[in-house]
Amino acid sequence: MNPDSHICLCFRISRRKLAKFVRFHKPKVPSQLSECGGAGTGCGWCIPYLRMIFEQETKGGGIVSGLDMITEEEYASGRSEHINTGKGKPPKLSGE
Ligand code: FES
Repeated sequence: MNPDSHICLCFRISRRKLAKFVRFHKPKVPSQLSECGGAGTGCGWCIPYLRMIFEQETKGGGIVSGLDMITEEEYASGRSEHINTGKGKPPKLSGE
């Protein structure tokens, strides 16, 4: 996943935007990343990855996380499976 990859696919929030949010707003806990465009408040698939971004940005950029090991296609496919197996429901966005 690169910096422009969308991490929260429900709300189309990029890794770069989430990383900047952590650097500038200094959330105390990973769940506060929901204040960045609602990240993690849809199907819930991205929550473990939001934690990884929080860890990377608060403990140093040198940490390799699962996000660096997965492709966008694998990530999107994992989310589809997450939703199709009933583990989460994507939000209804306006215009859909
Ligand atoms: S991908 Fe982030 S809540 Fe669904």
